Amino acid sequence: MADLFQYREPSEEPLDCLYILHCAGADPVDGIELSKSERNALRAKAKALGPRGDDGEIISGECPLAIARRFTFVGLGEAKGLSHGKLRAALQRVMRQATKNREYQIGIAMPIQVNGLSAAESRLFALREASLADYTFDQFKSKKNEFDKIDGLHVFPLTRESEEALEEKLQRVRLLRSSVQLARDLANRPANDLTPEKLALAAREVAEEVSGLRVTILGKKELLKEKMGGILAVGQGSVEEPRLIVVEHRPKKPKKSVVLVGKGVTFDSGGISIKPARGMGWMKYDMSGAATVLGVMRAVAELELPLKVVGLVPAAENLPSGTAIRPGDIVTTASGKTVEIESTDAEGRLMLADTLTYSERFHPDITIDLATLTGACRVALGDEAAGMMGNNQELLDTLARLGEIVGERVWPLPLYEEYLSYLKSDWADLKNAGNRWGGVVTGGMFLKQFVPDKVAWAHLDIAGVAYKESEKDGMPKGATGFGVVLLTTFLEGLLK
Ligand code: BES
Ligand code: ZN
Ligand code: MN
Repeated sequence: MADLFQYREPSEEPLDCLYILHCAGADPVDGIELSKSERNALRAKAKALGPRGDDGEIISGECPLAIARRFTFVGLGEAKGLSHGKLRAALQRVMRQATKNREYQIGIAMPIQVNGLSAAESRLFALREASLADYTFDQFKSKKNEFDKIDGLHVFPLTRESEEALEEKLQRVRLLRSSVQLARDLANRPANDLTPEKLALAAREVAEEVSGLRVTILGKKELLKEKMGGILAVGQGSVEEPRLIVVEHRPKKPKKSVVLVGKGVTFDSGGISIKPARGMGWMKYDMSGAATVLGVMRAVAELELPLKVVGLVPAAENLPSGTAIRPGDIVTTASGKTVEIESTDAEGRLMLADTLTYSERFHPDITIDLATLTGACRVALGDEAAGMMGNNQELLDTLARLGEIVGERVWPLPLYEEYLSYLKSDWADLKNAGNRWGGVVTGGMFLKQFVPDKVAWAHLDIAGVAYKESEKDGMPKGATGFGVVLLTTFLEGLLK
């Protein structure tokens, strides 16, 4: 969508339709910045049409104001039940309705508040989701985006919200929008298109598009030199060679040093421990952590955050073949620790192990990894929250709090020392998988063995939240870009 997202200039041509979101029982016209006569005219019209504000209600009428030809009241249900998902779904309804009605220029007024958020937090969320409501992945469709016909989404200021204040928020929202879109586009790309090599290329392209990023790619030769037995082992079954992608943002006099790690398995067949055929196609999303890290790096550079932030993305394709690793193999990771392969399907942790070891050279204060690591996490939390583990309570508390605000929830799980015994190997220092039980925490416990001392570390298992198997809560089917907003917000918070 071209010039999608702007505030409404009063002088402009009348809009095709003005969409007004409102909750049950609330005056739909209240809270929008209008002149007194405009407000009265709209209120009279509203009274005549009698919208109740029930969730899903859509009532249109001829607009009595010069600003639009038509208006539409969009009901959101009870105010106290207005969740992130409900609002997102309503915005998606708006886009669908506008497309169906062939409305090219639409206005949107959102005098509503997401339950549990402050007015400011809610406003940013609503604007961000409005800006993302047109997202579809159509790179491989001959017939393009269903929302392409809409070419202007004009946001109406709320009462006492100045044009400057709104424009400032929109500025931030546009930036996050591009980063979330980048993450979603990357994650949605199929594995034959987005190979480890292309993922590295994508990182380079981000660095060309925004200034302030340096990209270094470690190929097979460099991985061998760094003794990254984990990444190499996972990649050895595929003709696509593995990579370690390093994206650095290094401003002068940074306030803190942060490393972000994203699992970049471009396709996870399971390897010799092959997965069942049903649903295997979803494993193109096994590089969602990588996509999010690249999205965040883009935002960090654009915001010019005075933090040293290094994004590390190990990339490989996990396939069975005559050259693939086998169960029972013992690989030596970059840390020197040896790992017995219990399952070639527990591949992400092998790659993350080497990457965590590599992270040490950037002397991070904080390291956060994102990985579609375990099906067990999806079993435990569904697609409502990521599983979170780590070694620093303050870091975990901060992420949990911010997650609730931005609508990317993370829920804590324990890393009791006892779990380490689940990974005991008779032949090597560790094995890469336990038995069936506690699958999500044994994943976290495995990673913990490779986290450098004294680093505050959080592991986000995003297996449940990285993609939607079908459209839900206003999220399109496919990649969600989970974590881009959470981590960008977290990094900004470090400067406060
Ligand atoms: N990529 C998968 C985890 C996954 C499963 C992500 C479903 C999203 C949806 C991961 O590499 C994996 O296969 N994990 C194994 C670990 C086991 C062998 C210890 C799993 O979850 O079964
Ligand atoms: Zn995997
Ligand atoms: Mn796997």
